[in-house]
Amino acid sequence: MMCDSSRTEIFLPSCESVRSEQTIQLYNRCAETYEQDLAEMNYRAPNLAVDFLNANFSGSRQEVQVLDVACGSGLVAKLMVELGFRLFVGVDGSGGMLEQAARTGLYQDLRLALLGTQPLPAQPALFDVVIIVGALGVGFAPVSVVRELCHAAKPGGYVCMARGNHTGPAASRYKEDLERELKLMEEEGLWSPVGIKLSDRYMKEPPQICERDESQYISGTVYLYKTAS
Ligand SMILES: C[S@@+](CC[C@H](N)C(=O)[O-])C[C@H]1O[C@@H](n2cnc3c(N)ncnc32)[C@H](O)[C@@H]1O
Repeated sequence: MMCDSSRTEIFLPSCESVRSEQTIQLYNRCAETYEQDLAEMNYRAPNLAVDFLNANFSGSRQEVQVLDVACGSGLVAKLMVELGFRLFVGVDGSGGMLEQAARTGLYQDLRLALLGTQPLPAQPALFDVVIIVGALGVGFAPVSVVRELCHAAKPGGYVCMARGNHTGPAASRYKEDLERELKLMEEEGLWSPVGIKLSDRYMKEPPQICERDESQYISGTVYLYKTAS
């Protein structure tokens, strides 16, 4: 059965007035039905991110440490395990979602933190791969978090970020701010881009949002960076 809170609220970080504390309350309420709810929305973000990372990754998958930021119920780790990765630490602001992630049995450690308000709970320069999927958006994790992701990665490590190109002025501003910050960090010599992958089919936006009779796909972007050695 679908969660009482509408899927629109949960998945569409496009409203300026939504604060991440409210977002977390929604995720806490909907944690148990999260995977069911998003299946109905054709949420493809974890597959897009993991496939792009995997295609560009060089290293021993069994040995590398992966930090899964905003890990939710653990979908990213479930996909990465199939590709040979096996060491995961997860972070999320929702205790309910972390409970779901714990049930996968895939994470060595799970840490609760509201990103943007609390520091990313990760030792600097420890992780070979840092990945964040579906949480860089208005009312979710602020743009400032990308610097923390970069600092958590080892020199020469990968940072993979996947997000939906949601509609609305606040969402457009967020994207501009994000891309400005990514570029600035490149100019500061913190990292260099490995590639950017665009997809027409990131997830379906419900009719209330896209103002059509039927849901329609929104596009998404996966950004992949390698930190300076
Ligand atoms: C769309 S889900 C994505 C979960 C998972 N990465 C996936 O792709 O299935 C967004 C996740 O981000 C978390 N989240 C949102 N804002 C956050 C914040 N400021 N700090 C920590 N976690 C946050 C939510 O609790 C939720 O688990």
